[in-house]
Amino acid sequence: MKISVIGCGYLGSVHAASLASVGHDVIGIDVDAAKIEALSQGRSPIFEPDLPELLSEGIASGRLRFSTNMADARDAELHFIAVGTPQSAGAGSADLSYVDGAFDDLVPYLTEGDVVVGKSTVPVGTAVTHVAAVEARGAHLVWNPEFLREGFAVKDTIQPDRLVYGVADGDEYAVQKLNEVYATAIESSSPVIVTDYATAELVKVSANAFLATKISFINAMAEIAEVTGADVTKLADAIGHDNRIGRKFLNAGVGFGGGCLPKDIRAFTARAEELGRGESVAFLKEVDAINLRRRERVVELVTEELGGSVFQKKVAVLGLAFKPNSDDVRDSPALDVAVRLNGLGAKVVATDPEAIANSRALHPQLVYGTTDEALAGADAVVVVTEWPEYKQLDPAAVHEVVRTPIVIDARNCLDADAWADAGWEYAGLGRQV
Ligand code: UGA
Repeated sequence: MKISVIGCGYLGSVHAASLASVGHDVIGIDVDAAKIEALSQGRSPIFEPDLPELLSEGIASGRLRFSTNMADARDAELHFIAVGTPQSAGAGSADLSYVDGAFDDLVPYLTEGDVVVGKSTVPVGTAVTHVAAVEARGAHLVWNPEFLREGFAVKDTIQPDRLVYGVADGDEYAVQKLNEVYATAIESSSPVIVTDYATAELVKVSANAFLATKISFINAMAEIAEVTGADVTKLADAIGHDNRIGRKFLNAGVGFGGGCLPKDIRAFTARAEELGRGESVAFLKEVDAINLRRRERVVELVTEELGGSVFQKKVAVLGLAFKPNSDDVRDSPALDVAVRLNGLGAKVVATDPEAIANSRALHPQLVYGTTDEALAGADAVVVVTEWPEYKQLDPAAVHEVVRTPIVIDARNCLDADAWADAGWEYAGLGRQV
């Protein structure tokens, strides 16, 4: 099928490349000329496993092209809206200006029988504001939220856990068209749920709200564990054995960050308040507060371990990305911890396998270096993103290069006993060793 993807950020670039890889003819459109130039040359604007290969293959096959000109969407019969919905400045609500702009720019090019597919994460009630303009051109509107995880984006796009189509009045034509687009995923057993716009929009935000709540739940238990001498990692293992609870997303630590979970729970709260149902999701404010407290707790732990002050102490901060296998530092707890320690006068040397450039763009005041540079002569080591290379560090070898063997494991990802046995003062979150 001939497809256009409007917006070539995280979501759009992965979506465009993945659709081309399963045989569609795809044009990606974005207003950012530098991004389009890079993508046209097969260069990925983000660190995402498998994406560079997919881009190169797509471009070489002639099935994947990029453009800054919306008129190039004219030949496509399916148009995915994949632009961002960032948090509004000041307020927690979603900024819909890119979504609204994409519809305004695309609608004049729509022709009879086209299908517009919204993929952006939007507040419930957004799709209905665009359906009349789309239908006036004889086209159809579907809301088809995306559930990809950074680091697994290609895999999640090609083989999603589920496909959700929000359609107007049981629009069979649109369902049929989307089934054709996703034929490969459906054949390999991704279930399809057809519903209305409001449900489809809510599925997305409620899924992220649930995940955020699960993480803050275990982090709340970590807070209790810290004052009772309990071990939150054992607690998570034990409750996770109950299938109804499950062990996934129960890793206590410095909390969640990234471009989705934090902004989505705030936007959901703001939307519920607009709808007069603020009390229904009031707990999400607590979820957010617990999450932000964990960053403070890490800084507090470093301070305690360093005898009450971090001033002039060299602190090696291992990790800046909001999670491993990503160069994304949007709302990253790791970067936030580095900035806070630096602000308290610590001599921070921060490192990350992929996220230094993005961190430097936001916080040029920090000192960045290699892992070796960060560790050399450190008074304390803080592991804030659980990259495999940090989990695999040899505690005995690292002991040789630091000044004081103090490690704060802000992701509970190290082998605590091995570090303690190698002579380290080990501090995790929600556990005593
Ligand atoms: C999240 C959702 O998982 C995706 O399903 C969704 O499509 C995406 O948002 C989105 O809305 O686009 P992502 O932001 O890539 O995906 O990251 P996650 O893997 O969900 O991790 C989010 C944060 O939670 C990370 O900072 C991670 O370190 C943290 N986390 C995760 C924990 O602190 N503990 C856990 O047990 C799990």
